[in-house]
Amino acid sequence: MRKIILLGYMGCGKSTIANKLSKNIGIPFVDLDKKIEEKVNLAINTIFEKHGEIYFRKLEHEVFIELLNSPEQLIIGLGGGTPCYANNHELLKSDNVVSIYLKASIETLFKRLSTNKSKRPLIANKSDEEMKEFIAMHLFERSFYYNQAQYKVVVDDKTIDQTVLDIIALLA
Ligand code: S3P
Repeated sequence: MRKIILLGYMGCGKSTIANKLSKNIGIPFVDLDKKIEEKVNLAINTIFEKHGEIYFRKLEHEVFIELLNSPEQLIIGLGGGTPCYANNHELLKSDNVVSIYLKASIETLFKRLSTNKSKRPLIANKSDEEMKEFIAMHLFERSFYYNQAQYKVVVDDKTIDQTVLDIIALLA
């Protein structure tokens, strides 16, 4: 069954938008990070702390494949790094997948993440200054993977409702 996949950098709004989209079109939303947390019964922060990032990336890949192979139609919200590890970006090109990159500028991401970083191990301990530099470099490196999505929706200066309508128009 078809999977609608939302991807993009931390703070671009994947979960909020996916939730609203799910209510609008009646397709269940699954958050990949939540599924990972359920699988090992640990919070993302704890997985990074106790087992390290490589362990997390392996789990992320495994759970992503499980979701792709599930028999239901789903909206899947990826983690910010999902498309950038293993062969996950190739999986975005599977026949039953519609992939949508939610593109946000460095400024938008910085604004959103500076007040919302404690649950995100990659930035939790960074100062504002360090975070700005980190986001700029990281986004530059990751854009190669994000840009392989089938569709791109720019989210800067748009309400959640507007973004959801844009996605519904793409899916029509
Ligand atoms: C990560 C993003 C997070 C989470 C983990 C790693 C990343 O998800 O998967 O902390 O590498 O960008 P969100 O994009 O939902 O914050």
